[in-house]
Amino acid sequence: MAKDKLRVGIAGCGMITEFHIRAMKQIPELELAGVWDIAADLAKNTAEKWNVKAYGSYEEMIADPQVDIIDICLPAGVHAQYGCQAAEAGKHLIVEKPIDVTKEAAEKLIATADKAGVSLAVILQNRFAPSMNKVRKALDEGALGRLLYGEATIKWYRQESYYTSKPWKGTWEFDGGGALLVQAIHTIDLLLWFMGSKIKEIKSFARTVLHPIEVEDLATAILEFESGALGHIVGSTAMTPGFPERIELYGEKGSIALEAGRIVRWQVEGMQEEDYLDPVAMGSGSSDPGGIPLENHTAQLQAIARSILAGEQPPVSGQEAMESLNCILDIYRLGGMERKK
Ligand SMILES: NC(=O)c1ccc[n+]([C@@H]2O[C@H](COP(=O)([O-])OP(=O)(O)OC[C@H]3O[C@@H](n4cnc5c(N)ncnc54)[C@H](O)[C@@H]3O)[C@@H](O)[C@H]2O)c1
Repeated sequence: MAKDKLRVGIAGCGMITEFHIRAMKQIPELELAGVWDIAADLAKNTAEKWNVKAYGSYEEMIADPQVDIIDICLPAGVHAQYGCQAAEAGKHLIVEKPIDVTKEAAEKLIATADKAGVSLAVILQNRFAPSMNKVRKALDEGALGRLLYGEATIKWYRQESYYTSKPWKGTWEFDGGGALLVQAIHTIDLLLWFMGSKIKEIKSFARTVLHPIEVEDLATAILEFESGALGHIVGSTAMTPGFPERIELYGEKGSIALEAGRIVRWQVEGMQEEDYLDPVAMGSGSSDPGGIPLENHTAQLQAIARSILAGEQPPVSGQEAMESLNCILDIYRLGGMERKK
């Protein structure tokens, strides 16, 4: 009989894990089998809270025949390392964003999952918000005509304690970047998804302007897309007290703007703005990492589960997740902020 449920083992019991578990509780196609963390006490506490197994080692979790999917909620710089191990053990993979912190590691993860014949989905949950789908659908139907310009501004703030709370925060090795790769990546991913064209050229600056960290806390870039459209990105964790992120899209036939995931402007030829504006904001991580809404994780995790059960490629694929990673790594390289080994 075909399976109607997939069992998940989560690697990492930090901040985002709670979101994954709470989301899974609402998804009939997913069941949490157990958790593991390099810090055994964290795994034990999480397991007790949710009444699941705490695995004594990562190897034990990926060897468990009861587990179908390994969900990687670890620092970004170890995503590929742990992901490859799980893929080789025959487990499907869910990997939190970013896919990893270098192009080489990310490509290795994609190739290893392909070779092992397992699915790989990267969490970029904001694509699953109803507002984003409304915009994507309108663009697919040509509502804006030819796109001329797109802008993503992520003027967020993180207190110094955010970076000093854990030794891997703000490091090239484990976070792999700062404001862009850790925070702004969601909005950058959406901008690239909406613009629907590969990037042709980037001019950028990336700097550490406020926090005592290796990585950038302010970066700005001008983009030229292969379509001929232009773009602009500003990403920061130094803009106190932190402001809702915005995306603005301009085309031949009008303009759409989103703020904190909510459509705040829809001035498009032949369309009534009031039919499209969102009444309620979605929630934003502009000043609090835990301020993100749960609904988008729930929607993406459910879409992943249904795809795997149907034998289809789950969203968002590793290749698609490479787009935002490559864009951000190029902004660093061209902006004077290259990763130090
Ligand atoms: N999708 C989103 O909106 C969102 C939001 C926050 C974080 N994230 C992503 O989730 C992932 C985890 O972030 P977090 O905020 O939960 O982190 P966290 O620091 O709260 O937790 C990370 C966990 O990994 C463990 N760990 C640390 N170093 C390790 C190592 N070398 N090997 C194995 N385990 C190790 C730690 O013990 C910790 O429990 C990151 O990729 C991050 O970018 C995504």
